[in-house]
Amino acid sequence: MKKEEMVRNGYNEIAPKFKEFRSIFDNLPELEYLITLLPKKAKVLDVGCGIGIPVTRFLVDHDFSVTGIDISEKMVELAKLNVPKAEFFQYDMNELDFPDNAFHCITAVYSLFHVPKEKHFSILKNFHRMLKQNGILFFCVGHLGGDDTNEFLGEEMFWSNYPPEKTLSLVKEAEFEIIFDEILNRGDELQYWVFAKKK
Ligand SMILES: C[S@@+](CC[C@H](N)C(=O)[O-])C[C@H]1O[C@@H](n2cnc3c(N)ncnc32)[C@H](O)[C@@H]1O
Repeated sequence: MKKEEMVRNGYNEIAPKFKEFRSIFDNLPELEYLITLLPKKAKVLDVGCGIGIPVTRFLVDHDFSVTGIDISEKMVELAKLNVPKAEFFQYDMNELDFPDNAFHCITAVYSLFHVPKEKHFSILKNFHRMLKQNGILFFCVGHLGGDDTNEFLGEEMFWSNYPPEKTLSLVKEAEFEIIFDEILNRGDELQYWVFAKKK
Protein backbone atom coordinates (compact mmCIF):
# COMPACT_ATOMS: atom_id res chain seq x y z
CA MET A 1 0.00 0.00 0.00
CA LYS A 2 1.24 3.52 -0.79
CA LYS A 3 2.21 5.41 2.36
CA GLU A 4 -0.27 8.14 1.42
CA GLU A 5 -3.09 5.55 1.41
CA MET A 6 -2.10 4.36 4.88
CA VAL A 7 -2.16 7.97 6.12
CA ARG A 8 -5.50 8.67 4.46
CA ASN A 9 -7.09 5.52 5.93
CA GLY A 10 -5.64 6.35 9.34
CA TYR A 11 -7.00 9.91 9.42
CA ASN A 12 -10.40 8.74 8.17
CA GLU A 13 -10.61 6.66 11.36
CA ILE A 14 -8.98 9.24 13.63
CA ALA A 15 -11.13 12.17 12.42
CA PRO A 16 -13.81 12.07 15.17
CA LYS A 17 -11.21 12.13 17.98
CA PHE A 18 -8.73 14.53 16.36
CA LYS A 19 -10.13 17.78 17.80
CA GLU A 20 -9.47 16.81 21.41
CA PHE A 21 -5.95 15.58 20.62
CA ARG A 22 -5.14 18.73 18.60
CA SER A 23 -6.09 21.04 21.48
CA ILE A 24 -2.89 20.03 23.34
CA PHE A 25 -0.76 21.86 20.75
CA ASP A 26 -0.94 25.64 21.00
CA ASN A 27 0.27 27.30 17.80
CA LEU A 28 -1.20 30.72 18.52
CA PRO A 29 2.25 32.43 18.67
CA GLU A 30 3.12 31.11 15.19
CA LEU A 31 -0.27 32.05 13.75
CA GLU A 32 -0.12 35.54 15.29
CA TYR A 33 3.31 35.99 13.73
CA LEU A 34 2.20 34.59 10.37
CA ILE A 35 -0.52 37.17 9.88
CA THR A 36 1.94 40.03 10.44
CA LEU A 37 3.65 38.83 7.23
CA LEU A 38 0.52 38.82 5.06
CA PRO A 39 -1.33 41.52 3.13
CA LYS A 40 -4.94 42.21 4.13
CA LYS A 41 -7.44 39.66 2.77
CA ALA A 42 -4.60 37.46 1.51
CA LYS A 43 -5.40 34.22 -0.29
CA VAL A 44 -4.07 31.29 1.72
CA LEU A 45 -3.76 27.59 0.87
CA ASP A 46 -3.80 25.39 3.98
CA VAL A 47 -2.21 22.07 3.02
CA GLY A 48 -3.18 19.08 5.14
CA CYS A 49 -5.73 21.31 6.81
CA GLY A 50 -7.17 18.51 8.95
CA ILE A 51 -10.45 19.49 10.59
CA GLY A 52 -9.78 23.20 9.94
CA ILE A 53 -9.02 23.94 13.58
CA PRO A 54 -6.98 25.82 14.55
CA VAL A 55 -5.19 27.04 11.39
CA THR A 56 -7.94 27.55 8.79
CA ARG A 57 -10.37 28.92 11.35
CA PHE A 58 -7.80 31.38 12.76
CA LEU A 59 -7.06 32.71 9.27
CA VAL A 60 -10.74 33.02 8.30
CA ASP A 61 -11.44 34.80 11.59
CA HIS A 62 -8.73 37.31 10.58
CA ASP A 63 -10.44 37.96 7.26
CA PHE A 64 -8.17 35.93 5.01
CA SER A 65 -9.57 33.91 2.12
CA VAL A 66 -8.64 30.28 2.76
CA THR A 67 -8.66 27.13 0.67
CA GLY A 68 -8.00 23.98 2.68
CA ILE A 69 -6.95 20.66 1.18
CA ASP A 70 -6.52 17.31 2.87
CA ILE A 71 -6.05 13.73 1.72
CA SER A 72 -8.65 12.41 4.19
CA GLU A 73 -12.25 12.87 3.13
CA LYS A 74 -13.40 12.50 6.74
CA MET A 75 -11.12 15.31 7.91
CA VAL A 76 -12.39 17.46 5.01
CA GLU A 77 -16.01 16.74 6.00
CA LEU A 78 -15.34 18.01 9.52
CA ALA A 79 -13.37 21.02 8.26
CA LYS A 80 -16.38 22.08 6.15
CA LEU A 81 -18.59 21.95 9.24
CA ASN A 82 -16.03 23.70 11.47
CA VAL A 83 -15.15 26.52 9.08
CA PRO A 84 -18.03 27.15 6.68
CA LYS A 85 -16.46 30.38 5.39
CA ALA A 86 -13.46 28.54 3.89
CA GLU A 87 -13.49 26.22 0.87
CA PHE A 88 -12.15 22.67 1.20
CA PHE A 89 -11.15 19.92 -1.21
CA GLN A 90 -9.91 16.39 -0.84
CA TYR A 91 -6.50 16.34 -2.53
CA ASP A 92 -3.17 14.65 -2.02
CA MET A 93 -0.56 17.39 -1.52
CA ASN A 94 1.68 15.56 -4.03
CA GLU A 95 -0.82 16.35 -6.76
CA LEU A 96 -1.79 19.99 -6.24
CA ASP A 97 -2.36 21.78 -9.52
CA PHE A 98 -3.65 25.22 -8.56
CA PRO A 99 -2.51 27.89 -11.05
CA ASP A 100 0.90 29.58 -10.86
CA ASN A 101 1.07 32.58 -8.47
CA ALA A 102 -2.37 31.78 -7.01
CA PHE A 103 -1.72 32.32 -3.27
CA HIS A 104 -0.16 34.92 -0.97
CA CYS A 105 0.59 32.20 1.57
CA ILE A 106 0.81 28.42 1.87
CA THR A 107 0.65 26.73 5.28
CA ALA A 108 1.45 23.07 5.97
CA VAL A 109 1.19 22.59 9.72
CA TYR A 110 1.95 19.06 10.99
CA SER A 111 1.24 17.58 7.55
CA LEU A 112 4.36 17.41 5.33
CA PHE A 113 5.88 14.84 7.71
CA HIS A 114 3.27 12.29 6.59
CA VAL A 115 4.68 12.24 3.04
CA PRO A 116 7.81 10.20 2.17
CA LYS A 117 10.72 12.63 2.55
CA GLU A 118 12.02 11.89 -0.96
CA LYS A 119 8.95 13.80 -2.20
CA HIS A 120 9.40 16.86 0.04
CA PHE A 121 11.50 18.76 -2.47
CA SER A 122 9.01 18.40 -5.33
CA ILE A 123 6.23 19.50 -2.96
CA LEU A 124 8.25 22.56 -1.91
CA LYS A 125 8.93 23.43 -5.56
CA ASN A 126 5.21 23.13 -6.30
CA PHE A 127 4.41 25.40 -3.32
CA HIS A 128 6.87 27.90 -4.80
CA ARG A 129 5.12 27.73 -8.17
CA MET A 130 1.67 28.33 -6.65
CA LEU A 131 2.82 31.25 -4.48
CA LYS A 132 2.83 34.84 -5.66
CA GLN A 133 6.09 36.81 -5.65
CA ASN A 134 7.10 37.41 -1.99
CA GLY A 135 4.46 34.87 -0.95
CA ILE A 136 4.89 33.27 2.45
CA LEU A 137 5.47 29.59 3.17
CA PHE A 138 4.83 28.40 6.74
CA PHE A 139 5.30 24.77 7.70
CA CYS A 140 6.74 22.38 10.24
CA VAL A 141 8.33 18.94 10.06
CA GLY A 142 9.86 16.63 12.66
CA HIS A 143 13.17 17.57 14.25
CA LEU A 144 14.74 14.12 13.74
CA GLY A 145 15.44 12.60 10.35
CA GLY A 146 14.12 9.19 9.34
CA ASP A 147 11.04 7.18 8.42
CA ASP A 148 8.73 5.60 10.96
CA THR A 149 5.50 3.64 10.98
CA ASN A 150 3.77 3.44 14.33
CA GLU A 151 0.45 3.60 16.08
CA PHE A 152 -1.17 7.04 16.30
CA LEU A 153 -4.50 7.41 18.10
CA GLY A 154 -5.08 3.69 17.55
CA GLU A 155 -4.28 3.67 13.80
CA GLU A 156 -1.23 2.72 11.76
CA MET A 157 0.52 5.94 10.74
CA PHE A 158 3.55 6.92 8.66
CA TRP A 159 6.03 9.75 9.35
CA SER A 160 9.02 10.86 7.30
CA ASN A 161 11.52 13.66 7.85
CA TYR A 162 14.92 14.88 6.87
CA PRO A 163 17.06 16.39 9.62
CA PRO A 164 16.43 20.17 9.89
CA GLU A 165 19.70 21.12 8.11
CA LYS A 166 18.62 19.11 5.07
CA THR A 167 15.07 20.51 5.11
CA LEU A 168 16.55 24.00 5.33
CA SER A 169 18.79 23.39 2.33
CA LEU A 170 15.82 22.05 0.31
CA VAL A 171 13.74 25.13 1.13
CA LYS A 172 16.59 27.34 -0.06
CA GLU A 173 17.12 25.21 -3.16
CA ALA A 174 13.41 25.60 -3.95
CA GLU A 175 14.16 29.35 -4.13
CA PHE A 176 12.78 30.54 -0.84
CA GLU A 177 14.43 33.09 1.43
CA ILE A 178 14.33 32.03 5.10
CA ILE A 179 12.55 34.40 7.48
CA PHE A 180 12.64 32.22 10.59
CA ASP A 181 13.56 28.62 11.30
CA GLU A 182 13.81 26.98 14.67
CA ILE A 183 13.02 23.82 16.59
CA LEU A 184 10.15 24.74 18.89
CA ASN A 185 8.45 22.85 21.71
CA ARG A 186 4.66 22.84 21.37
CA GLY A 187 2.52 20.56 23.53
CA ASP A 188 5.68 18.81 24.74
CA GLU A 189 6.69 17.87 21.19
CA LEU A 190 9.60 19.25 19.22
CA GLN A 191 9.12 20.19 15.57
CA TYR A 192 11.22 22.14 13.09
CA TRP A 193 9.26 25.30 12.12
CA VAL A 194 9.99 27.38 9.03
CA PHE A 195 8.72 30.73 7.76
CA ALA A 196 10.07 31.52 4.29
CA LYS A 197 9.40 33.93 1.45
CA LYS A 198 9.25 33.21 -2.30
CA LYS A 199 12.16 34.97 -3.99
C1 LIG B 1 -1.59 16.00 12.26
S1 LIG B 1 -2.86 16.47 11.11
C2 LIG B 1 -2.67 18.24 11.10
C3 LIG B 1 -3.89 18.94 10.59
C4 LIG B 1 -3.84 20.47 10.63
N1 LIG B 1 -2.87 21.02 9.72
C5 LIG B 1 -3.60 20.95 12.02
O1 LIG B 1 -2.69 21.78 12.22
O2 LIG B 1 -4.32 20.53 12.91
C6 LIG B 1 -2.17 15.99 9.56
C7 LIG B 1 -3.13 16.17 8.39
O3 LIG B 1 -2.40 16.05 7.17
C8 LIG B 1 -3.19 15.33 6.25
N2 LIG B 1 -2.33 14.73 5.23
C9 LIG B 1 -1.41 13.77 5.41
N3 LIG B 1 -0.83 13.44 4.25
C10 LIG B 1 -1.40 14.23 3.30
C11 LIG B 1 -1.24 14.34 1.89
N4 LIG B 1 -0.38 13.58 1.21
N5 LIG B 1 -1.97 15.28 1.26
C12 LIG B 1 -2.86 16.05 1.93
N6 LIG B 1 -3.08 15.95 3.25
C13 LIG B 1 -2.36 15.06 3.94
C14 LIG B 1 -3.90 14.31 7.12
O4 LIG B 1 -5.02 13.72 6.49
C15 LIG B 1 -4.23 15.12 8.36
O5 LIG B 1 -5.49 15.73 8.28
